[in-house]
Amino acid sequence: MSGVKLLATGSALPQHVVTNHDLEQIMDTSDEWITSRTGIGARHHCTGEESHTSLCLEAAKKALERSGVKAEEIGVCLVATLTPDFLTPATACVLQKELGLEHDTVCFDLNAACSGFVYALHTAQCLLAAAGRKYALVLGAEVLSRVIDSGDRSTYVLFGDGAGAAVLEWREDYPSIHAVLGCRGDDQVLTIPGVNKGVPAVVHMDGQGVFRFAVEALPHCAREVAQKAGISLEDVDRFVFHQANQRIINFAVKKLGVDPAKCTGNIAHTANTSAASVPILLDELMEKGEIKSGDKVLCVGFGGGLTWGGALLEVAQRREGDTK
Ligand code: ACO
Repeated sequence: MSGVKLLATGSALPQHVVTNHDLEQIMDTSDEWITSRTGIGARHHCTGEESHTSLCLEAAKKALERSGVKAEEIGVCLVATLTPDFLTPATACVLQKELGLEHDTVCFDLNAACSGFVYALHTAQCLLAAAGRKYALVLGAEVLSRVIDSGDRSTYVLFGDGAGAAVLEWREDYPSIHAVLGCRGDDQVLTIPGVNKGVPAVVHMDGQGVFRFAVEALPHCAREVAQKAGISLEDVDRFVFHQANQRIINFAVKKLGVDPAKCTGNIAHTANTSAASVPILLDELMEKGEIKSGDKVLCVGFGGGLTWGGALLEVAQRREGDTK
């Protein structure tokens, strides 16, 4: 045995809220179309001084403070993202400087689109074990408002900005998170061109193609995680699914036959924040007390790549004498 547990979380959303009614003023769409097709009522967009980096810093500071872990105790810092402020330095390197992490902290960004945070959880667990370090700071963060085309109503309405952070503790007597990660390479269903293509870096999406992929990948991945962990889906206290579309989640919940009350989300006010969606929801549920010490939380991300990733994250029990 050996693995990580969740100590604490933090998140940050930009101040500016863009409602469906706001979008009705700038494009041919309606609140009724967006809500009924996706469950989205509003999204947050960065404005002014806000940036990918500022959201990450805010989320990371909250998570660190709530965990009681000192910056110098962090051995691994990972940021899952496809919309960093800089390709280099990586956001994780900027966090090293701004948070005062030690120089021997392993810091890098990784891109597995909407599955990125779960990929990062698994990577952090492996790196902590290999490096003999105890704590990791793992983030998912996006400023998707920079890569959506206001001329494309079928994608513009779906995405939002935000960041979520988690502090993980590695111990020999903790169970693994039993991650299940996968990829089916596809450059047709969901793409954002890179900087070398000479075309605007905006989202192109075959919505129905993503939908078909997601309603298969999500339940399959959740089942595989439970099987790997040797538990039944009924033993899971909370499911945290990537908030891409409420209809995808409803399909998956039905297929899995799990209690819908354990699968509620926040897409109505965040929209799809890609790699940030799982950690932002985790943080909201932790803050509301809907995820508690000792809970088993099954997280699943799915999306561009096409990728998927699931993990069973246990919340660390508070121990006698803990100040955390
Ligand atoms: N407002 C009003 N009408 C719209 C809008 C809009 N914002 N967008 C598209 N339409 C119109 C289309 O033009 C089309 O009109 P037409 O029939 O006159 O041609 C009509 O609505 C139906 O379009 P479809 O694309 O067939 O709509 P669909 O019912 O498939 O819903 C949606 C589109 C919501 C994108 C759906 O396919 C979906 O949810 N797919 C999953 C995609 C997803 O979740 N992506 C998230 C990003 S990827 C990730 O995170 C994994």
